Amino acid sequence: MCGIVGYIGPRDATPIILNGLKRLEYRGYDSAGLAVLTNGHLEIRRDAGKLDRLAALVAEDPVEGHVGIGHTRWATHGEPSARNAHPHQGATGAVVIAHNGIVENYLELRDELGAEGVEFKSDTDTEVIVQLVDRYLSLGIGLVEAARKSFRHLKGAHGIVLLSATEPDKIVAARIGNAGGVVVGLGEGETFIASDIPAILEHTRQVVFLESGQMAVVGRQGVEVQTLEGKTIPFEVHNVAWDPVAAEKGEYRHFMDKEIHEQVRSLTDTIAGRVDFEAGRVRLPQLNLTRDLACRIQKVIITACGTAAHAGMVGKVLIERIARVPVEVDIASEFRYRDPIVDENTVVLAISQSGETADTLAAMEETRLKGGVLWSIVNAIGSQAMRIADGYISMQTGPEIGVASTKAYTAPLVDLYMLAVLLADLRGVLSDKERRRLVADLALVPDLAGHCLDREAEVERVAFALKDVKHCIYLGRGINMPTAYEGALKLKEISYIHAEGYPAGEMKHGPIALIDRDMPVVVIAPRDPWYEKMFSQIEQAKARGGIVVAVATEGDETIAKFADQVLWVPPTPWMLSPVTTVIPLQMLAYHIAALRGLDVDQPRNLAKSVTVE
Ligand code: G6P
Repeated sequence: MCGIVGYIGPRDATPIILNGLKRLEYRGYDSAGLAVLTNGHLEIRRDAGKLDRLAALVAEDPVEGHVGIGHTRWATHGEPSARNAHPHQGATGAVVIAHNGIVENYLELRDELGAEGVEFKSDTDTEVIVQLVDRYLSLGIGLVEAARKSFRHLKGAHGIVLLSATEPDKIVAARIGNAGGVVVGLGEGETFIASDIPAILEHTRQVVFLESGQMAVVGRQGVEVQTLEGKTIPFEVHNVAWDPVAAEKGEYRHFMDKEIHEQVRSLTDTIAGRVDFEAGRVRLPQLNLTRDLACRIQKVIITACGTAAHAGMVGKVLIERIARVPVEVDIASEFRYRDPIVDENTVVLAISQSGETADTLAAMEETRLKGGVLWSIVNAIGSQAMRIADGYISMQTGPEIGVASTKAYTAPLVDLYMLAVLLADLRGVLSDKERRRLVADLALVPDLAGHCLDREAEVERVAFALKDVKHCIYLGRGINMPTAYEGALKLKEISYIHAEGYPAGEMKHGPIALIDRDMPVVVIAPRDPWYEKMFSQIEQAKARGGIVVAVATEGDETIAKFADQVLWVPPTPWMLSPVTTVIPLQMLAYHIAALRGLDVDQPRNLAKSVTVE
C-alpha cells in the first residue's frame, strides 16, 4: 500500500531499492517486496513482515540487475502474505507492478478478466491492473500504450510503477487522480522513482513531481512526462533542499499544504488492513473488541482536545446511527475533573494525534481508576495513549508536522466509521446488506478526497476574497455540525481571524445578531439528511445582508444561486461526508493564512503536542 521505489541505471538495483524502502519504513507497512530484471526475466522476492524479512530473502537467494521496483504494502485487499505482497505479475509473468491506491471497481474488472480466462494469483485489487496490462501486451501493443489503455479502466486514485521484461530499458510510472506521491529522481545515467522523496534523497536532489493525470516513461537518461491521453508535456525539475526536513516538504510550501494533499493516501492507509471488501466486514484487531464486550457496552464516552474532539463529535453521530449505542463527547480537560459516571460497561474512547496530550491522558487515567474500558485512536505509534489503552486503532497517516491538524482529522473520521460498523456487526444490529453497503462506501473515500483537492484553484479564489475579513462564522448541522467547528478552528489557528463554529439551528438564538456584510457566513450544506434545514440558514443569512460561502454538493444549482461563493464537494455517502466537506475548509484556512504571509506550520502560541495542563 504504502511505499514505492524504482531504479534504472548502471548500478545493482537491489540494494538501492532495499535502502529506499528502509527510508519509507516510518510510514508503516505489513509486507514488502521487490522485482529486478535479471538476464531478461523478472526475479521477485516478497513476503509478509518487515524489510528485514525481505533482506533475508534476498540474502538467501540473491537477485542482481540494473532495473527494478520495490514496495512496502499496507494491506487493503487480501491479508498480508507473500502472495498478496507487491510487486504483482500478470498471466505471462513478463510485467510487474507496484501500486498505491484502491481500485474501486476491482471486483467488476476481476470478473471481466476472469471471464476471459485470467486466473488470479492474489486477493489484491492491484493484480487487475497488471492483468489488464498483460492483456494489451499480448495483443502486440507496447508497454506504454498498454499501460495507458489499462489505466483507463481504473476507478479511484493511484500511484503506479510498471516494469516489463519485454522492454527492459524503461519503467512506466503514473499518478492517476490525486493519489499523492510519484516523484522521479534524476541522476547521472541513472533514474529513480519513489512515492516519497526520502527514499531517493541519498542519490539525487533533482526531482520531477508527477501531477494527477500524468505518466512518466523513465529511462537511464531521464524521463519523459506524458498525459494519460499520450501527449508529451514539458516538466519542471525541482532542486530539493539538503536539509532532510525541508526536503520532506517536497513540492509544497508548507507542511500543512503537504499534509492536506496527502489525504488521499492517508485515507487509503487508514483503511489498509482493516477492511475485507469481499466479505463486507471491518477488522480492527488491536481494539480487542470481542462480541461479548460489544454486547455489554452501554455507553461510549469520546474524550479528546481540539481537532480530535471535533472528530469525536462526528463519531457520536456515526456510532449512535450505525451501532445504536449512546455516545457522549467530552472535552478531556472537562471530563477529567467532573467526576464522570463511568463503570465497567462504559467505554471511554480517547482520540489524540500525538497520543501525548496531557488532558487526554489524564482523562484516560480517570477512566482507569473508575474501571471503564479504555480505547484510543492515536497517530503516533508507541505513544502513551496507545500504550495505556485496553485497545486502540492507529491512524496510519504517517507523521503530521503542521501544528494545525488536517490528515489526522480525516483519518479518525474513517476510523470511527469503521469502529461503528464493527460494533454494529458484533451487536447484530446491521443487516448483511446494510453492512456490505457501508463497507463498500469506504473504498470511495480516498478518491472523493482527491476530487476535493482537484478544486483547489477555486478555493484559492475564495481565500483571496476573504483574506482581509476580521470575523467569520461557520454553520453546520447534524453530522456536519462538527465540520463547522473544525473549519472555524482551522481558520483561527493559522490566520488569526476570529472565527466561530456554531450548530446552524442555534444561529437564531444569538449569532444572527452579528450578521452583516463584514462577517462572512460559511454554511456547510452538502446533500445530507440536514440539507433542507441548512438551506433555510442560507436564506436567513442572505436576508440580513450576510455574505454566504457555501460548502455544497456538485450540481446543486439552487445553492449556487443563493450563495456568494461556493466550495464544491463531490457527492459523498452522507456518513462519510465530513471527510469531504472539511477538505475545502482546510484549504481555505491554509490559503488565507498563506496570503496573509503567516507562519502556517507554526502559528503563534500553539504547540503540536500540548503535554502540560
Ligand atoms: C493542540 C493542537 C491541536 C490538536 C490538539 C489535540 O492544541 O494545536 O491541533 O488538535 O492539541 O492534540 P492531539 O495530539 O491530542 O490530537
